[in-house]
Parts: sequence; C-alpha cells; structure tokens
Amino acid sequence: MPVQIIVGAQWGDEGKGKIVDHLSEEVDIVARYQGGANAGHTVILPGKRNEKPKQYVLHLIPSGIFHRHVRCVIGNGVVLDPVALMDEIDQLTKAGIRIQGRLLISHNAHLIMPYHKALDSLREQGDQKIGTTGRGIGPAYIDKYMRTGIRVVDLLDRDVLCKKLKRNIEEKNELLKQIYHTEQLDVDAIINEYQEFDKKIDEYITDTSRYLNNALAKKQTILAEGAQGALLDVDHGTYPFVTSSNPTSGGACTGLGIPPTSITSIVGVVKAYSTRVGNGPFPTELNDETGTRLRSIGGEFGATTGRPRRCGWLDIESLRYSIRVNGIQRLAITKLDVLDSFDEIKICTGYFAKGKRMSNFPTDVQTLESVRPILKSYKGWKTPISDVCRYRDLPPQARTYVEGMAELLRTKIWMISVGARRDQTLMLK
Ligand code: IMP
Repeated sequence: MPVQIIVGAQWGDEGKGKIVDHLSEEVDIVARYQGGANAGHTVILPGKRNEKPKQYVLHLIPSGIFHRHVRCVIGNGVVLDPVALMDEIDQLTKAGIRIQGRLLISHNAHLIMPYHKALDSLREQGDQKIGTTGRGIGPAYIDKYMRTGIRVVDLLDRDVLCKKLKRNIEEKNELLKQIYHTEQLDVDAIINEYQEFDKKIDEYITDTSRYLNNALAKKQTILAEGAQGALLDVDHGTYPFVTSSNPTSGGACTGLGIPPTSITSIVGVVKAYSTRVGNGPFPTELNDETGTRLRSIGGEFGATTGRPRRCGWLDIESLRYSIRVNGIQRLAITKLDVLDSFDEIKICTGYFAKGKRMSNFPTDVQTLESVRPILKSYKGWKTPISDVCRYRDLPPQARTYVEGMAELLRTKIWMISVGARRDQTLMLK
C-alpha cells in the first residue's frame, strides 16, 4: 500500500493525530501536506514504568514522529512558521524524541512571517470575522498565490532572504498604516531574527517531493496526513468560513509532489458526533444542555487556541458529501466513548429547506444556514466502553449506532476509537 491518505471528514478536530499515530506503526513515512500551525494533533503515549500517559499536541510535525522507524515530512503545501517549528522541535527533544535525521522539510514550503500573524488578527477585528486561529495562515497563502511569498529555500541565501523580507515588510507596513492605522513592523529586527533560522533548520531542508518519489520507487509506504477537515477546504468547504488550503484528499498530491497514481487508500476520520470551531453554518449544532454536555465530556476545546468548540449531532448529509469529494473508502470513527452516558443519541440523516427534502449538501452559506436537520434517534448504551477490546464486545446499542452510520453512509467502518490511548482502538474486519 504505497500511499494512504488520512483526511478529516468534518470540520477538523476529528482526532486525526491518534489515528495517524496508530497507523504509523506500519508505514515508513508520514507526510503533512497542507495547513500550518493552525492544526493541533493530539497524541497520547503510554507512560514509562509507573508514569502516567503523556499528552503531546503537534502543530506542524507529522503525528508519526513517536515511532522511531518513521521519517516525517513537512511537504511543500504546508505554510511553515519557523518560530512554532523550533518550539515544537525543542519540546519533543526535551521529551527524549529524536528529530535529527528523521524530519524533512520541503524547500518549497512557504514561510509564515510575523506580518502574516499581525494581518490575520487585524482582519479578524473587522465585521467579516471567520474565527481564524490567528496563526497567519490566510495571509501566508495570499502571498504564496500573489507570488510574493518567502519560501524555506530562501532561508539558505541571506542576500535573497534580506531582499525579499525587506520588500515584503515595507509593503505590509504600508497596508498596516493605510488600512489598519496600526503600528509599523521593525524591518531590521525581523530580518535579524529570520536570518538565524537557516542555522537551525538547514539540516532538515530538502526536496521532499524527490525524496517521497524515491521512497515510492523503493516500495516504501507513505501515510499522507491531512490537517483540519474537508468541510474547511477552501474549494470544497463552507466558503468563506474555511481555512486557506485543501485538506481534502486531492491536496495530498499537490501538497507533497506525488502523483495521483500512487494513492492506494483514502481513510476518512469521523468523530461520532460533530464539532466546529470558528464561525460558519453548522446545521446540527446544539445550543442547549446536550451541546454543553458533549463539549464537557468530549473535552471539546481547541488544541491550538483553547477556544470552546461548538458541538452537535453527527451529520450524515455533510459526510456523504465529504466521502464523495475525498473518495473516502473506509472510515475511522473516533470518540465513540464520549456518548457513553447519553440516554438518546441522534443522527442527522438529511436536510429540509423551503419545505422540501434536499438531495445534496449545499456548500453555499446562505442555503446551509437555512436548512433544518432531519434527525433519527438511537438508544444510548449507558455504559462505559473505553475498556472494550473487540468490536463484538461493544454494547448492542453502540453497535446499532455504528452500523446505522455505516449503512447511511454506505461506507465501511474500519476502526473505532473508544478512548485517547493507543490501545483503545478497535479494528473491524
Ligand atoms: P485559519 O485556518 O486559522 O485561517 O482559520 C480558518 C477556519 O478554520 C476557522 O474557522 C478555524 O477555527 C478553522 N480551523 C483552522 N484550523 C483548524 C483545526 O485544526 N481544527 C479545526 N478548525 C480549524
């Protein structure tokens, strides 16, 4: 199985970190293909001897890093914040995880600069707030597509870096002054700070597309790790309430420089209910006590920003769309255990709009905001399932819920996560 893509099938935060970590045991390379430090992929490792399990939140480094044999690639489609990267490398190194010789960063990835973060925050103060993570993602992709961006490879040539930085900062300063009437950025301070990154990340920089294609030629296996989720995709999500990249499976080829013919499997990660951070339509949102319970039991607070996530029932209509756009062949269901204590669990099987049942998922915000979800009710299992090790040992009501989901989605369920730990994962035949 040369390339397996792992995509979030909802609005992100599906628990991809745990699934990627679990699957990394059997692959050679894990590669991130888009997004930046807006992602927060949580992995919990068993404690050594009598120690408690340890939690890591990764923002840029692929979630395969905890498996010693795995090489981790940050692809060209990622927008890389060198400050966040150095922080992450330091934290992992302190925890005894070897990074040297295992991390490869694309020379073509674009860099996130302080002015991208400043502009991201300033834009969010206006009336067209998206609820971004404030990590500079949108402004960095703007520069990429304006063809004025600064790439990782530019760090290696001080003259080029200085010239490009100076031009960019001066341009952004004009924007800050004219549009936002705010403080100017210090050109020299930024140039001095960013010139130093070449020493720190030089050893990781390479042509990762070439590396990955060579690995494929040697029959190595690659797991392409998506960040965010399909419904946040800039082309296929609920625009404009989306991120600025392509988390959908198609993004893996452009974001890594590997051919579509190398893709052999696409796995969609689906949380057993729905969540969304930031603004935008969310047809099954629960603004009531049930939503609050889901948030509190599920620990639904952003891994990057700490913001409370909006919570609601599982939405089949949006998932059917996501399965279609991504070509998802199998599903990994996460956080099923969060539903343990509910008397009744609901699934949205479709939408009503203007008195009629809709036949499709509308991605235009106006329509999506007007739909009414059609809900099907399932009986809760009312018992803890986090210690269950085999699918057949799940309570019958939990199996009915999972099988109902598979039937409505007409897609095979391959894995079920019943807790945050590695071993709390059920594999289905
Ligand atoms: P940005 O990616 O920071 O520009 O934010 C755009 C939208 O995507 C906002 O609604 C964010 O809350 C959302 N978003 C970005 N990254 C993530 C993520 O990793 N999980 C969930 N939502 C995200």
